[in-house]
Amino acid sequence: MLVGRPIYDAHFRLLLNTGAALSPEAIRRIRKEEYPAIIIQEPGTEKIATQDLIGVKIRQEIEGALEEFSAWQKRDFDKQQTGPGARRPRDTGPGVADVQNQIDEAVKALLTELMYQRKPVYYPGVYPNRNRLINHSTNVAILSLLIGWRFRLGKQELLWLGKAALLHDVGKWRLAPELISTHPEDYSDELKIAYSLHPQMSTALLDQDINMNAHISMGVLQHHENQDGSGFPEKMQGSNLPPTSKLRPRGSIHRFAEIIAVANFFDNLVSGRVAKMQLTPPEAVKRIVEATPSRFNEHISNEALEVINVFPVGSLVRVGESSHRGIVGYRGVVAGTNLEDLHRPKVTLLYSQRQRLEQPLTVDFSTDPRSRLEYMNTFD
Ligand SMILES: [Fe+2]
Repeated sequence: MLVGRPIYDAHFRLLLNTGAALSPEAIRRIRKEEYPAIIIQEPGTEKIATQDLIGVKIRQEIEGALEEFSAWQKRDFDKQQTGPGARRPRDTGPGVADVQNQIDEAVKALLTELMYQRKPVYYPGVYPNRNRLINHSTNVAILSLLIGWRFRLGKQELLWLGKAALLHDVGKWRLAPELISTHPEDYSDELKIAYSLHPQMSTALLDQDINMNAHISMGVLQHHENQDGSGFPEKMQGSNLPPTSKLRPRGSIHRFAEIIAVANFFDNLVSGRVAKMQLTPPEAVKRIVEATPSRFNEHISNEALEVINVFPVGSLVRVGESSHRGIVGYRGVVAGTNLEDLHRPKVTLLYSQRQRLEQPLTVDFSTDPRSRLEYMNTFD
């Protein structure tokens, strides 16, 4: 069996490139990185190039900045633990200004990379779970920026939004690392309390340390507030108005927090953090729709649905409906995204209902408005 796209370790160093054979040693290394799934190359799919929205260099840069931030936080915490009179451990790492700078540069690089593309669509990619918080933060930042861009937020606002999204959960590190390593369904009572405090802790850490402003602060503090007032920590209400509206009442949930909330929910669903089962992108999108407008701002959810690629290249699909009745029930691999209709990509069909096709057949479903594709986890 051959690998269908590059596989990296938790520090985004290449483990296996596309086309590499899955040897027992390779499988052992992939398991060690806690990959939830990998993409396999099948005969007939060699030409399908799965592509990431952002390059691995940017992921590395973000990972470096967040690791630096967490290491710096930890040193700062150790200092406080020893008390003002006690001998403090020597701070040998970069100072706060360097850490701040690294975070700012990473957000800038991310925004530049996204804006460089004609119509970027979001796909979380498949990355090792060993670096869960960093992957999650990066994914939430990417999706938040794409949503913010849809509302034509200015560059400065996007940089603030990206920073708030990237740092929205940093309080978890300080409160209890188990908040990240444990599944939320398995939280003890103690962890549940710690969890309920993480927005305040994130905000407090950032207010103290990072080049912040009130917008970034509110984006972080309010990312678990719901439109109907059922969220936390302050049970704030939302306005359900577009995030750019001048009519938004004072005291309603900040637009950055409303955007981060949707991005956060989507990433938690597809990475299996809400329920233990990882949802497919189409299922996760359905859950966003169900939670709107009670939980999420409807304008923001609508734009999220425009940028989330429900059938990323490389996904396995089944033809549920088509005006070409002969191919209903056929199964294949998504070969290309149609930017104008994310629900109807190009698909290379590999199997009929019964058997493997002699010749793979690539169909562009955007020309078949009656078609409906179903996402599959496996062909078996
Ligand atoms: Fe959170």
